[in-house]
Order: sequence, then C-alpha cells, then structure tokens
Amino acid sequence: MSTPNYSLVNDATGEKIELPAVSGTLGPVGLDVGKVYGKSGVFTYDPGFSSTCSTQSSITYIDGDEGVLLYRGHPVDQLAQHCSFVEVAYLILHGELPNAAQLEDFDQNIRRHTMINESLKGFFGGFRYDAHPMAMLTGVVGSLSAFYHDTTNNKDPRHREIFAHRMIAKIPTIAAAAYKRYVGQPFMYPQNHLDYCSNLLHMMFAVPAEPYHVDPVAAKALDVLFILHADHEQNASTSTVRMAGSTGCNPYAAIASGIAALWGPAHGGANEAVLKMLGEIGDVSQVQGFMDKVKDKNSGVRLMGFGHRVYKNFDPRATIIREHCHKVLKHLGKENDPQLELAMKLEEIALSDDYFRERKLYPNVDFYSGIIYKALGIPVNMFTPMFAIARTVGWVAHWIEMISDPTMRIARPRQVYTGAPLRDVSPIAQR
Ligand code: CMC
Repeated sequence: MSTPNYSLVNDATGEKIELPAVSGTLGPVGLDVGKVYGKSGVFTYDPGFSSTCSTQSSITYIDGDEGVLLYRGHPVDQLAQHCSFVEVAYLILHGELPNAAQLEDFDQNIRRHTMINESLKGFFGGFRYDAHPMAMLTGVVGSLSAFYHDTTNNKDPRHREIFAHRMIAKIPTIAAAAYKRYVGQPFMYPQNHLDYCSNLLHMMFAVPAEPYHVDPVAAKALDVLFILHADHEQNASTSTVRMAGSTGCNPYAAIASGIAALWGPAHGGANEAVLKMLGEIGDVSQVQGFMDKVKDKNSGVRLMGFGHRVYKNFDPRATIIREHCHKVLKHLGKENDPQLELAMKLEEIALSDDYFRERKLYPNVDFYSGIIYKALGIPVNMFTPMFAIARTVGWVAHWIEMISDPTMRIARPRQVYTGAPLRDVSPIAQR
C-alpha cells in the first residue's frame, strides 16, 4: 500500500473518502475502494470489470496498449523462442526459470503423474457418443475431486504441489481420452518417455493396431502454442477458478469451473468459432459480403478471432503464432490451404477498414491457433480442449497464489438491484 492520493467526493455534502493507491511493479495503480460502502453507503459499479482489479498477482503482466505479455517478468516471445512448455510451466508455478536439475526433477514429476485411475476411464463411456470434448473435460476434471482424498488440505504446501503436478500431468490424458471417445477409438495410455506435447499427440492419434511416430515439428508447434496460452492474468476462466477457489472448494472442482468458463465463444471457444466462421464464409469471393454483415450492428455477427478486452494495439501472441503458422503449414505442405488464404484476406481487409481501426480490433491469438491446429489434423471440437490443457498451468498457479495468501477472502461482489420494490404477497385467488 502506498500513500493515499485519490479521493471520492460527495458533490452534495462535500464529504471526501480517501482511496489508497495500491501500487504494483508495472502498470497502473489500483484504487482501493473496499471501504467505500462502509464509509458512504454507495457501491462502486463496473460490470464486465473494465476498470476493476480483483486481486494483486505476481504471475503475469499485460500492457494492452503496447502489446506486452510477461510471465514472471519474462517476455513471452523470448520464452517461446528459448524454452519448452514444461520449463515455462515451472516458471509460472515457481516464479523463476528452473536450472537443469530443477527442470529434470519437475519434468519427471509431471511424467510420473500422467496416468488416470482406471475407474475414471469408465466415466467416458457414460457420455453420449457425440458429446463435445469440452463437456467431457469439464465433467471428468470435476470428477478428479472424487479420487484424490489424500491431498485435500488446501493449507498444506505439499498437498498443493502434488495437486499441481497431478493436474498438469493428467489434463492431456483426459483431453485425449475425450477425443478417443468422440472418434470411437480405444484409449491410448501415456508414454512417459515422450515429452509433454509428443505424448499428447501420441495419445490422440496412435492406435493399438499400428506404430505411430510423432512428427517433431508438430510437437514443437504445439509446444509453442501451449507456451503462448499458458497464462493471461485475470481473464474470465482464471477469475472463475479464483472465485470458486475462494470458497475453499476442492481444487479439481475449481479447475473444472475454469474449463466451463473457457468454453464460451467470447473466450477459449473462439478458436473453434474462427474455423466455423471460415467454413461458413466459404471462399474469398464471399469475404466482402461477410464483412458488411460484421459491420451491421443488427446482424449480430462478429469477426471471430478479432478484438480483445485488454489488447488495443496488437496481441503479441498473435504476432508469434502468425509467423509460426506459415512455417508449420509449409512443413506440412499445406501452405496453399484455402482456409489460410481466406483468413489472410479477412485479416487484410479488417486491418485496413475504419470500423476495425476505430475500435482497435486486431487479430487475437485464436485467429491463427485454429489454423495451425487444423493443419496438425486436430479436429475443430478439440481446439478449445487444447487451450484448456495449456491454460491449466495458469489456473493452477493462480489457485495456489490465492489460496496461500493469508489475506484471502471469499469473492463476493455486490449489485445494483433493479427488481420490484418491497411489496406484499397477495393470496393466490386475488392475483
Ligand atoms: N467483430 C466485430 N465487432 C467487434 C468485435 C468483433 N470481433 N469485437 C468487438 N467489436 C466491436 C463491438 O461491437 C463494439 O462496437 P461499438 O463500440 O460500436 O458498440 C466495440 O467493438 C467494442 O466491443 P466490446 O464487445 O465492448 O469489447 P469487449 O472488450 O467487451 O469484448 C471480446 C472483447 C474479445 C469479447 C470481443 O472483441 C469479441 O467478441 N471478439 C470475438 C471473439 C474472440 O475472438 N474472442 C477471443 C479473445 S482472445 C482469447 C482469449 O483470451 O480467450
């Protein structure tokens, strides 16, 4: 807490309430409005949280105007260039990059926890054959809370650490099992000699009937995508995990609530929505007509993969992915993919159009990630589970940060009530 230098003045009475400024290491200060209601009887009002910090956090920093994204102080582009996803997971969880021995130890811990309980496998059979993998992921991750009774003391750092290893290790296995259920193929057990992303690709695409060799370029592309998606400070799903977790609930249940929040098309579901949109547009000749619809407020159509609540200049993740996208497509011999051509045309028109420029709408991370996933042979309804696997690291880190903070309180927002005023209940015959 630094010196109070802001205040709220009641124009009618002249009464002044001082708002202490909460300073971080980077970015704007926050004004502490926690005592405003107690002192004045009014609430602060900010639906959608455009100006409201829900917490202090030392994990991730975003400067939306400058297009900056830092994990524990390190620029995401440097991490994507020099580190593996598991290394970045260590950084996000522990606050510092690991040395070789720490990385080896952490990596082994993750590999050791990749299997899921055999009876948990049976859960997948209970879903309808065409269930969306995100529905299965939400349900099965929530069910983990029924399996691990040995580590439920949220106050014990060792219990929290085991939870972190289990969650990060098992989420690819669960996502791959959801996919196998969806395509009607047998589940493939994890292969712990493989690295994190190679293991995921193997569990998704191998079948018992024949050998499967993981393409290292595909595994590397996935690894970079996962680094870019690993955390994004107080986004909707992370805030959901924190809110659920603030009640002291089982941590697996808190992560399941984050997965449910991620699924929406305004958030992690956007990568799936981009591909659906490209399919609906059809080809380059239809782009202008589609753009006219996007700009027509009555159409309800949005350009999916464009715009961001925080980034108002460019999304640094999109810049890295865009470059990667071309490399991967070239390696896979898919650089003439008609959907990529269509996406590039949309991007070109949007970047030069006043509607998008005035509103500061730029391509976001999901605009390109779907195109890479598609090129890797990942089906559209698995795009958001891919995002969920990567973001699990951020959710776990935020849950740990929150639950280990001795000042943590249950998250309980207030409201401006707009319903009927006080009225009596009339007997049913008189209504
Ligand atoms: N297409 C067309 N118009 C848009 C779009 C879009 N994608 N996004 C925002 N606008 C317009 C919106 O209509 C509004 O116009 P006006 O001022 O004339 O009413 C203005 O831009 C501001 O929009 P907003 O809805 O107030 O902005 P927001 O900060 O509440 O929403 C957003 C952010 C990401 C939900 C939104 O831009 C959107 O729906 N984008 C498409 C979905 C998407 O790609 N989501 C992925 C986000 S990145 C991955 C992640 O972090 O999950």
